[in-house]
Amino acid sequence: MRKISKIAVLTSGGDAPGMNPCIRAVVRTAIYNKLEVVGIRQGYQGLIDNNMYEMNTRSVSNILNLGGTILKTARCLPFRTDEGMETAYNNLKAQGIDGIVVIGGDGTFTGALRFSQRFPDIAVMGVPGTIDNDLYGSTYTLGFDTATNTVIEAIDKIRDTADAHDRLFFIEVMGRDSGAIALRAGISCGAEAILLPERATAIDDLIESLKAGQFNKKSSSIVIVAEGDKSGGVYDLAERVRGQVKFYDIKVTILGHLQRGGSPSAFDRILGSRLGFAAVNALIAGKSQMMVGLEANHIKLTTLEEALTQHQFKLEDDLMQMSEILSI
Ligand code: F6P
Repeated sequence: MRKISKIAVLTSGGDAPGMNPCIRAVVRTAIYNKLEVVGIRQGYQGLIDNNMYEMNTRSVSNILNLGGTILKTARCLPFRTDEGMETAYNNLKAQGIDGIVVIGGDGTFTGALRFSQRFPDIAVMGVPGTIDNDLYGSTYTLGFDTATNTVIEAIDKIRDTADAHDRLFFIEVMGRDSGAIALRAGISCGAEAILLPERATAIDDLIESLKAGQFNKKSSSIVIVAEGDKSGGVYDLAERVRGQVKFYDIKVTILGHLQRGGSPSAFDRILGSRLGFAAVNALIAGKSQMMVGLEANHIKLTTLEEALTQHQFKLEDDLMQMSEILSI
């Protein structure tokens, strides 16, 4: 069995609330197990630039409540090249690092898998960190819960003003190709319609349902549009509906990057702690090329290969059906 004595930790791709609790758990679990631990700044870019520092228990004090990531993050193109990976490998070897925890989404895992296939002597463990909740092998990813709550808070506020003015709002939320945030926020805010990449919405049906809402004396309407929805984008949609739904004044809001920030929720603090703890224990147990996830409230290991190839996260059919019925 491979023996691990020094590990590194990095965050990569879009930041997500919960990354800091996870870094804290990685550092403290490593130190508890008498491993040395090194923080890599700016994700894979820091591996290439040799931007690393030794961490101790105090390096991660008072970070549980912080959004973003104390290690910083980046989307790093050079790591996709053979040259970039080789430089990263040489830097890790020079430091005597034999295991690495990578916290991020599918882009991060693609890099991690390629790297560890090429350099298998460095063990790699992935932690799903993305607000998009789109990774196979974990029911929830780090940051999804906080981002959804942030979206709910924002939409509740928009509802207040929409209601005061009898307005219809089209609100775009993040999620890349996943409608996970849109669906849960939509149910939580009683959105009149939720447009998702996972299902096609006919514009005529949308218009009919908005007209029905007005007939049923709704004084405002909220249509949540996931950014990956294929109906043509939130502005285009609003224009197409404007000509047909005359009774509401129509406005558009794109929530944007505010969805990625903020103090992690209790759920994300605990999830980050559990996954960071599990990631280090998996490395100590000799595992590599895997991702730690949470399924049915238990830690589960999935190969990075499987996490990536089974990538499409399926939204729950019952939630999709229910969302339509409850918003009439
Ligand atoms: O993957 C997280 C995410 O916030 C997606 O929801 C969004 O599409 C993307 O990142 C935005 O990326 P960037 O911050 O690089 O513009």
